[in-house]
Amino acid sequence: MYQFPLDKLSEIPTPYYYYDMALLRATLDAVNKEIKGFPFKVHYAIKANGNDVILREIASHGFGADLVSGGELVAALAAGFKAQDLAFSGVGKTDWEISLGVENDIFSFNVESVPELEVINEIAGGLRKKAGVVLRVNPDIDAHTHRYITTGTAHDKFGISLEMLPQVIQMAHNLPNIHLRGLHFHIGSQITMMRPYEMLCEKINELQDSLERIGVSLEIINVGGGLGVDYDAPDEHPLAGFTSYFNVFKRGLKLRQGQEVHFELGRSIMAQCGTLISRVVFVKSNRDKQFVILDAGMTDLIRPALYEAHHKIQNLTSSSPRRETYDVVGPVCESSDVFARDEVLPTTSRGDLIAIRSAGAYGESMSCRYNMRRLPQAHYSDAIAK
Ligand code: LLP
Repeated sequence: MYQFPLDKLSEIPTPYYYYDMALLRATLDAVNKEIKGFPFKVHYAIKANGNDVILREIASHGFGADLVSGGELVAALAAGFKAQDLAFSGVGKTDWEISLGVENDIFSFNVESVPELEVINEIAGGLRKKAGVVLRVNPDIDAHTHRYITTGTAHDKFGISLEMLPQVIQMAHNLPNIHLRGLHFHIGSQITMMRPYEMLCEKINELQDSLERIGVSLEIINVGGGLGVDYDAPDEHPLAGFTSYFNVFKRGLKLRQGQEVHFELGRSIMAQCGTLISRVVFVKSNRDKQFVILDAGMTDLIRPALYEAHHKIQNLTSSSPRRETYDVVGPVCESSDVFARDEVLPTTSRGDLIAIRSAGAYGESMSCRYNMRRLPQAHYSDAIAK
């Protein structure tokens, strides 16, 4: 079982995010080991966690970054990511965000539509620059993940459909201020089966063959992100299945001479490195239920409320040998502010310290101030160990 530095953690006012920087470094090293010797480049998806301490650590390991807003672009540059290692995704980039990307000579805009392509061309022309562009293709693959985080089917808002692609490629080639670098795919998030990625490789191979027949060659292929983590057993699986994941692409993609593959991983890099630490405010009983009411709520980790996600919950301080069943809830005035129903915990009392695990990705980055709550602070294992 994972050992939290309890004496230190119990002195810090709750709720807060606790980041295990040693695990983050081990994760980054594991990724770098998998891709060594292959023409692979990993861009960290900043949306998973844009905390500056985290970003600096990731940038220092040689990763690129995947951005979805001007704010993330500014944060990436400040953290030390190189402009040439930045890819800017998103269906609704605004003019100032495009200008900022063009001015900084980022590697690529991952373009999702014809109107976007035209606007980037126009803005780049005005700045007398050429913008690097990768076209996001909707490959129509169902990754069978939660309906809110599947992105690659024909019904989703993302990407350019396969039928339209040759025409859009032609158009990109003809626009004077666009440098078309390749294609981009992203099929969804929290994907734990490798089959959808194998299907993606097959789709990409077919597409490359058919594009080659019309004289199109690509510098890079960006296969997006989405690799899932084990939310039920973070201690048994602190690292995501990087070996199986990268093997799918090593074996499955038929790369052309000089071609690079780009990845955009968010969750699999950060999720297991973060824990939301909270205290029990009250334990109360209603007719046939017991509730553990925490000082952390959906404003600090929205995944259970928004996606019915379950994060492992641990009582770090109870020494009771008895097990009881509780609904673990937050203090926010919303009935969806529930972390878990019928959770079995050792007998829990007011003041106990509770860990909500795997909160490093889409925890802090999705936090908000609803109910005018204070945003939780972040604390880091490195600083705490000193
Ligand atoms: N690339 C693109 C184009 C994306 O849209 C995403 C995530 C990623 C990369 C990174 O995916 P990852 O490796 O983290 O799965 N808030 C949700 C997840 C939303 C993911 C959105 N796009 C959650 O907490 O489950």
